[in-house]
Amino acid sequence: MPTNLTKHSFTVSREKREQICGHKGKVLWFTGLSGSGKSTLANALDEKLNLKNYNTYILDGDNIRIGLNKDLGFSPEDRKENIRRISEVAKLFADSGKVVMTAFISPYKDDRYEARKLIGEDFIEIFVNTPIDECIERDPKGLYKKALNSEIKGFTGIDAPYEEPQNPEIEIKNMTIDESVNFIINSLKI
Ligand code: ADX
Repeated sequence: MPTNLTKHSFTVSREKREQICGHKGKVLWFTGLSGSGKSTLANALDEKLNLKNYNTYILDGDNIRIGLNKDLGFSPEDRKENIRRISEVAKLFADSGKVVMTAFISPYKDDRYEARKLIGEDFIEIFVNTPIDECIERDPKGLYKKALNSEIKGFTGIDAPYEEPQNPEIEIKNMTIDESVNFIINSLKI
């Protein structure tokens, strides 16, 4: 705890906020390679949960890096700080009663472990396990092509590591978007 700061407890509790939302706050932490389908999947899940009147929000790597985290690059230290800030923000969203989906590569297992530790039992890791060859073939932003031509250095899966989750709550592999969304909803029992 930094010095000279005191945590304030506000009157409206998390339970009260969850009661208003009609469900508990949660963090659905998508992890996987660039182009694996994290944002697409979060978006499809978001649509479905909204039809069920869930209060949701998506925190997405590219979007957050354009705003809140625009001072960060892709060195291991910057990725760590990216994930640290997102964990803190996601925790606040869960505390407000929302189901928040985060879509970040989050390639380092230590950083994901720290996120899990900070967020606690609300943290649900969803590993979007799309093989690198398929991501390279999809290459939705043309970044793999650049990375393979050495125009981008330190690109995840090419010349920077992706440390696969060993024990994610949910793993998405060889499923269509619809199947994945249903699988997540059934796994979460929501
Ligand atoms: S993370 O590693 O810190 O979790 P994050 O999910 O925020 O990454 O951002 C990844 C997105 O940034 C990719 O989908 C891609 O569009 C873009 N990007 C740009 N440079 C890189 C790079 N060197 N490695 C990975 N992604 C990159």
